[in-house]
Amino acid sequence: MKSPFLITVRLFAILATPALLPEQLPAQYLSHQGFISFQEPEGGFKPLFASLSVDGVPVRGTGAPQVSQLFSDTTFANIPNGTTIQKMKDSSGREIWNYPLGAEVAHKIEFKDLSHTLFELRILRKITETQWDFASYSPNTTRLQEATLSRNHYMGNIPFTITLQISDHISSRLDLRRISLTSCKNCHFSNSQASYQYPTVSEAGPCGFTPGNENGIRSWIDTYQAKFGHSPFSNL
Ligand code: HEC
Repeated sequence: MKSPFLITVRLFAILATPALLPEQLPAQYLSHQGFISFQEPEGGFKPLFASLSVDGVPVRGTGAPQVSQLFSDTTFANIPNGTTIQKMKDSSGREIWNYPLGAEVAHKIEFKDLSHTLFELRILRKITETQWDFASYSPNTTRLQEATLSRNHYMGNIPFTITLQISDHISSRLDLRRISLTSCKNCHFSNSQASYQYPTVSEAGPCGFTPGNENGIRSWIDTYQAKFGHSPFSNL
């Protein structure tokens, strides 16, 4: 007969394992969960789209002025209540962050139109000791107050067209292609300044919310401390 103790431990492990990111999220997910924003490291490149045309004219390069005129993006992180990020050293003495299960980071991409229409919300959730679930969501309507965000499952770089009201008198038509969902982990694995944290591509996680981005994360830490009265980090 199995011991009730073992059964309890197993049941607890199942209940305590964070679920995959869901198919639907409320539009106000980040504020409801208490996500705090942080700044990306200097010089990082996170793709907003695979291609873009504005009023029929192709825009070349993410550094083109139209991109910063039309898009704004912000990154966020959240750890479950009562958890901390454990700072450790690897065998070469480099700092490693052992994120708690259920930790989430987010990348919110909005248009700079009059109503700040949401383009995409990308989220990573730590679901096991070695795996992060990578998801991209987009709203089912441009009226954000009523919107639900649906998890994307498209293949390749699907097209998306939207007409934005930029000001009272100016509107622009954007023809975009979304980035491929199969590109996420590969890129985070090869582009993170702390990619040494991830032994293999399938273990890849946050790209900018990592050791080495002290400046970008300082205000995240300050806000966290002010809110909870203790540091979000602990040492092993
Ligand atoms: C071409 C490379 C690339 C691809 C593809 C990519 N990302 Fe990123 N992503 C980055 C970089 C680089 C950052 C860090 C920010 C910076 O340096 O500007 C980042 C940041 C993020 C963040 C903010 C938190 C953090 O530190 O990681 C999230 C969330 C995120 N990406 C999700 C995704 C998802 C989901 C996909 C796939 C749909 C994806 N990314 C595809 C390069 C990429």
